[in-house]
Amino acid sequence: MKQAAIVYWSKTGNTEKVAFAIKEGLETAEVKVTLKRAEEADDIDYYDYDLICIGSPSYQWSPPKPLTDFLMGKFIHYRTQERVKLGAPKIPDKNVLIFCTYSGPHTGINEAIPVGKYIGQFFEHLGFTIVDEWYILSEFHGSEDASTIGRMGDIRGKPDQEDLGKIKEKTRELVGRL
Ligand SMILES: Cc1cc2nc3c(=O)[nH]c(=O)nc-3n(C[C@H](O)[C@H](O)[C@H](O)COP(=O)(O)O)c2cc1C
Repeated sequence: MKQAAIVYWSKTGNTEKVAFAIKEGLETAEVKVTLKRAEEADDIDYYDYDLICIGSPSYQWSPPKPLTDFLMGKFIHYRTQERVKLGAPKIPDKNVLIFCTYSGPHTGINEAIPVGKYIGQFFEHLGFTIVDEWYILSEFHGSEDASTIGRMGDIRGKPDQEDLGKIKEKTRELVGRL
Protein backbone atom coordinates (compact mmCIF):
# COMPACT_ATOMS: atom_id res chain seq x y z
CA MET A 1 0.00 0.00 0.00
CA LYS A 2 1.40 3.34 -1.02
CA GLN A 3 -1.11 6.15 -0.72
CA ALA A 4 -3.72 6.87 1.91
CA ALA A 5 -6.11 9.74 2.53
CA ILE A 6 -7.60 10.62 5.89
CA VAL A 7 -10.80 12.66 5.72
CA TYR A 8 -12.64 13.57 8.91
CA TRP A 9 -15.16 15.90 10.46
CA SER A 10 -14.63 17.05 14.03
CA LYS A 11 -16.26 19.75 16.13
CA THR A 12 -14.64 19.34 19.56
CA GLY A 13 -11.39 17.66 18.56
CA ASN A 14 -11.85 13.97 19.47
CA THR A 15 -12.16 12.69 15.91
CA GLU A 16 -9.29 14.96 14.92
CA LYS A 17 -7.02 13.40 17.58
CA VAL A 18 -7.80 9.95 16.22
CA ALA A 19 -7.20 11.16 12.65
CA PHE A 20 -3.71 12.34 13.64
CA ALA A 21 -2.95 9.06 15.48
CA ILE A 22 -3.92 7.16 12.32
CA LYS A 23 -1.70 9.49 10.31
CA GLU A 24 1.24 8.70 12.58
CA GLY A 25 0.55 4.98 12.31
CA LEU A 26 0.41 5.15 8.52
CA GLU A 27 3.61 7.17 8.33
CA THR A 28 5.39 4.70 10.61
CA ALA A 29 4.42 2.07 8.04
CA GLU A 30 5.87 4.31 5.32
CA VAL A 31 2.57 5.10 3.68
CA LYS A 32 2.22 8.51 2.03
CA VAL A 33 -0.65 10.33 3.73
CA THR A 34 -2.96 13.15 2.71
CA LEU A 35 -5.01 14.44 5.64
CA LYS A 36 -8.00 16.74 5.15
CA ARG A 37 -10.96 17.98 7.09
CA ALA A 38 -14.16 17.13 5.21
CA GLU A 39 -14.83 20.86 4.77
CA GLU A 40 -11.66 21.07 2.66
CA ALA A 41 -11.91 17.75 0.85
CA ASP A 42 -14.40 18.42 -1.94
CA ASP A 43 -11.65 18.06 -4.53
CA ILE A 44 -10.42 14.69 -3.30
CA ASP A 45 -10.70 11.76 -5.71
CA TYR A 46 -11.15 8.63 -3.61
CA TYR A 47 -9.90 6.48 -6.46
CA ASP A 48 -6.45 8.11 -6.25
CA TYR A 49 -5.82 6.24 -2.98
CA ASP A 50 -5.30 2.65 -1.90
CA LEU A 51 -6.82 3.41 1.50
CA ILE A 52 -9.34 6.03 2.58
CA CYS A 53 -9.67 6.58 6.34
CA ILE A 54 -12.91 8.39 7.02
CA GLY A 55 -13.73 9.76 10.46
CA SER A 56 -16.88 11.03 12.12
CA PRO A 57 -18.40 11.63 15.52
CA SER A 58 -21.83 10.24 16.38
CA TYR A 59 -24.57 12.85 16.52
CA GLN A 60 -27.88 11.26 17.47
CA TRP A 61 -26.42 7.95 16.28
CA SER A 62 -25.83 9.39 12.81
CA PRO A 63 -22.96 11.22 11.15
CA PRO A 64 -23.28 15.02 11.54
CA LYS A 65 -25.05 16.71 8.64
CA PRO A 66 -21.95 18.46 7.22
CA LEU A 67 -20.28 15.07 6.84
CA THR A 68 -23.37 13.46 5.31
CA ASP A 69 -23.60 16.37 2.88
CA PHE A 70 -19.95 15.87 1.95
CA LEU A 71 -20.40 12.11 1.42
CA MET A 72 -23.58 12.60 -0.58
CA GLY A 73 -21.98 15.26 -2.77
CA LYS A 74 -19.10 12.93 -3.64
CA PHE A 75 -21.51 10.03 -4.18
CA ILE A 76 -23.66 12.01 -6.61
CA HIS A 77 -20.52 13.09 -8.44
CA TYR A 78 -19.37 9.48 -8.89
CA ARG A 79 -22.87 8.34 -9.82
CA THR A 80 -22.99 10.85 -12.68
CA GLN A 81 -19.67 9.35 -13.82
CA GLU A 82 -21.37 5.92 -13.79
CA ARG A 83 -19.01 4.63 -11.12
CA VAL A 84 -21.95 3.30 -9.09
CA LYS A 85 -22.71 -0.10 -10.55
CA LEU A 86 -25.38 -2.66 -9.79
CA GLY A 87 -23.95 -5.41 -7.64
CA ALA A 88 -21.21 -3.02 -6.40
CA PRO A 89 -18.31 -5.04 -7.86
CA LYS A 90 -15.20 -4.73 -5.73
CA ILE A 91 -12.27 -2.80 -7.18
CA PRO A 92 -8.93 -4.35 -6.17
CA ASP A 93 -6.84 -2.38 -3.67
CA LYS A 94 -9.50 0.20 -2.91
CA ASN A 95 -9.95 0.00 0.84
CA VAL A 96 -11.70 2.02 3.50
CA LEU A 97 -11.16 2.29 7.24
CA ILE A 98 -14.01 3.93 9.13
CA PHE A 99 -13.41 5.52 12.51
CA CYS A 100 -16.15 6.94 14.69
CA THR A 101 -15.79 8.68 18.04
CA TYR A 102 -18.75 8.52 20.39
CA SER A 103 -19.67 9.01 24.02
CA GLY A 104 -22.42 6.41 24.31
CA PRO A 105 -24.19 8.04 27.26
CA HIS A 106 -27.46 6.22 26.71
CA THR A 107 -26.89 2.90 24.93
CA GLY A 108 -23.12 2.69 24.56
CA ILE A 109 -21.50 1.59 21.33
CA ASN A 110 -24.93 1.06 19.72
CA GLU A 111 -24.99 4.85 19.32
CA ALA A 112 -21.91 4.65 17.10
CA ILE A 113 -22.36 1.50 15.04
CA PRO A 114 -25.07 3.00 12.78
CA VAL A 115 -22.62 5.81 11.92
CA GLY A 116 -20.01 3.32 10.75
CA LYS A 117 -22.51 1.24 8.80
CA TYR A 118 -24.05 4.29 7.12
CA ILE A 119 -20.71 5.78 6.08
CA GLY A 120 -19.61 2.37 4.85
CA GLN A 121 -22.44 2.24 2.35
CA PHE A 122 -21.16 5.32 0.51
CA PHE A 123 -17.91 3.49 -0.17
CA GLU A 124 -19.19 -0.04 -0.69
CA HIS A 125 -21.49 1.32 -3.41
CA LEU A 126 -18.37 2.70 -5.12
CA GLY A 127 -16.61 -0.67 -5.12
CA PHE A 128 -14.43 -0.10 -2.06
CA THR A 129 -13.83 -2.78 0.58
CA ILE A 130 -14.46 -1.83 4.21
CA VAL A 131 -11.40 -3.21 5.95
CA ASP A 132 -12.38 -2.17 9.46
CA GLU A 133 -14.67 0.00 11.56
CA TRP A 134 -13.18 1.49 14.72
CA TYR A 135 -15.43 2.92 17.42
CA ILE A 136 -13.52 5.08 19.88
CA LEU A 137 -15.04 6.04 23.20
CA SER A 138 -14.56 9.79 23.71
CA GLU A 139 -15.43 12.54 26.17
CA PHE A 140 -18.66 14.42 25.47
CA HIS A 141 -17.23 17.95 25.63
CA GLY A 142 -19.87 20.34 26.89
CA SER A 143 -21.83 17.70 28.80
CA GLU A 144 -20.33 16.75 32.14
CA ASP A 145 -23.16 14.34 32.95
CA ALA A 146 -22.78 12.47 29.66
CA SER A 147 -19.03 12.26 30.37
CA THR A 148 -19.32 10.99 33.95
CA ILE A 149 -22.60 9.23 34.76
CA GLY A 150 -23.75 7.85 31.41
CA ARG A 151 -23.70 4.21 30.30
CA MET A 152 -19.91 4.31 29.79
CA GLY A 153 -19.04 5.88 33.17
CA ASP A 154 -16.28 8.44 33.56
CA ILE A 155 -14.91 9.04 30.07
CA ARG A 156 -13.32 12.44 30.67
CA GLY A 157 -10.04 12.91 28.83
CA LYS A 158 -10.75 10.20 26.28
CA PRO A 159 -9.33 9.41 23.83
CA ASP A 160 -6.19 9.69 26.01
CA GLN A 161 -2.56 9.08 25.10
CA GLU A 162 -2.90 5.36 25.75
CA ASP A 163 -5.96 5.11 23.47
CA LEU A 164 -4.17 7.07 20.76
CA GLY A 165 -1.06 4.92 21.08
CA LYS A 166 -3.20 1.81 20.55
CA ILE A 167 -4.78 3.38 17.49
CA LYS A 168 -1.38 4.14 16.05
CA GLU A 169 -0.32 0.53 16.62
CA LYS A 170 -3.56 -0.88 15.15
CA THR A 171 -3.04 1.30 12.09
CA ARG A 172 0.44 -0.10 11.59
CA GLU A 173 -0.96 -3.63 11.86
CA LEU A 174 -3.71 -2.80 9.40
CA VAL A 175 -1.19 -1.67 6.80
CA GLY A 176 0.60 -4.98 7.27
CA ARG A 177 -2.62 -6.84 6.44
CA LEU A 178 -3.41 -4.94 3.25
C1 LIG B 1 -24.84 17.62 19.09
C2 LIG B 1 -24.16 16.36 19.63
C3 LIG B 1 -24.84 15.17 19.57
C4 LIG B 1 -24.23 13.99 20.05
N1 LIG B 1 -24.93 12.82 19.98
C5 LIG B 1 -24.33 11.67 20.42
C6 LIG B 1 -25.02 10.42 20.34
O1 LIG B 1 -26.17 10.31 19.92
N2 LIG B 1 -24.37 9.32 20.77
C7 LIG B 1 -23.09 9.36 21.26
O2 LIG B 1 -22.57 8.30 21.59
N3 LIG B 1 -22.41 10.53 21.35
C8 LIG B 1 -23.00 11.68 20.94
N4 LIG B 1 -22.33 12.86 21.01
C9 LIG B 1 -20.94 12.87 21.52
C10 LIG B 1 -19.95 12.87 20.38
O3 LIG B 1 -20.23 11.85 19.44
C11 LIG B 1 -18.53 12.62 20.89
O4 LIG B 1 -18.20 13.45 21.94
C12 LIG B 1 -17.54 12.78 19.76
O5 LIG B 1 -16.31 12.23 20.13
C13 LIG B 1 -17.36 14.22 19.33
O6 LIG B 1 -16.43 14.26 18.28
P1 LIG B 1 -15.55 15.56 17.93
O7 LIG B 1 -14.84 15.96 19.21
O8 LIG B 1 -14.62 15.10 16.89
O9 LIG B 1 -16.49 16.62 17.47
C14 LIG B 1 -22.91 14.04 20.56
C15 LIG B 1 -22.24 15.28 20.62
C16 LIG B 1 -22.85 16.43 20.17
C17 LIG B 1 -22.11 17.73 20.26
